Amino acid sequence: MNIRSEQPADVDTIRALTRAAFEKAPHASGTEAAIVDALRDAGALTLSLVAEDGGKILGHVAFSSVSVGGEAGWYGLGPVSVWPDSQGRGIGQLLIRHGLDALAQMGAKGCVLIGDPAYYSRFGFVADPAVTYAGLPPQYVQRLAFGETIPSGEIVYHAGFEAS
Ligand SMILES: CC(C)(COP(=O)(O)OP(=O)(O)OC[C@H]1O[C@@H](n2cnc3c(N)ncnc32)[C@H](O)[C@@H]1OP(=O)(O)O)[C@@H](O)C(=O)NCCC(=O)NCCS
Repeated sequence: MNIRSEQPADVDTIRALTRAAFEKAPHASGTEAAIVDALRDAGALTLSLVAEDGGKILGHVAFSSVSVGGEAGWYGLGPVSVWPDSQGRGIGQLLIRHGLDALAQMGAKGCVLIGDPAYYSRFGFVADPAVTYAGLPPQYVQRLAFGETIPSGEIVYHAGFEAS
């Protein structure tokens, strides 16, 4: 399995993969593929990584800049997608670990996300009631600080997350 940055030729596959992965996912908005496109079009895809095996793209993860409590230096994880018939084989974890390592090397303060704590706690994400998002229950709003700066306040994602 090779993890690499997206190339222009990957764009259609990433869109189809994102649609397929979220089609039956709980809590899906149905706008996830449009969000990835909007972030890319705005130059706001800080990291867009694909997992490739034998020339086939099996998974994708996006990271984009966010502010937390008005403070920059934080990144939002997502959307993250693995083809339904390839899920549960560690591909999502590999993508996420690569992305978090790359963010840390870039000097990021850390990463935040909205997601299931049962999955994301394995990467060190913790639910912190001091970090909020759109009135969501606090257990779904998670943060991972790479250094000593602990975030506090509302997460503001890039406007691309309003794409539909
Ligand atoms: C979420 C997703 C990216 C994970 O990738 P994956 O390659 O299937 O997951 P991995 O093989 O790395 O990890 C498997 C583990 O994660 C768990 N898991 C997978 N998806 C999960 C989810 N949505 N919620 C909670 N746990 C999940 C599995 O039960 C398994 O747990 P275990 O290791 O304790 O047995 C993938 O399942 C997917 O594309 N889902 C649909 C889209 C989606 O929901 N994206 C995330 C939105 S927050």
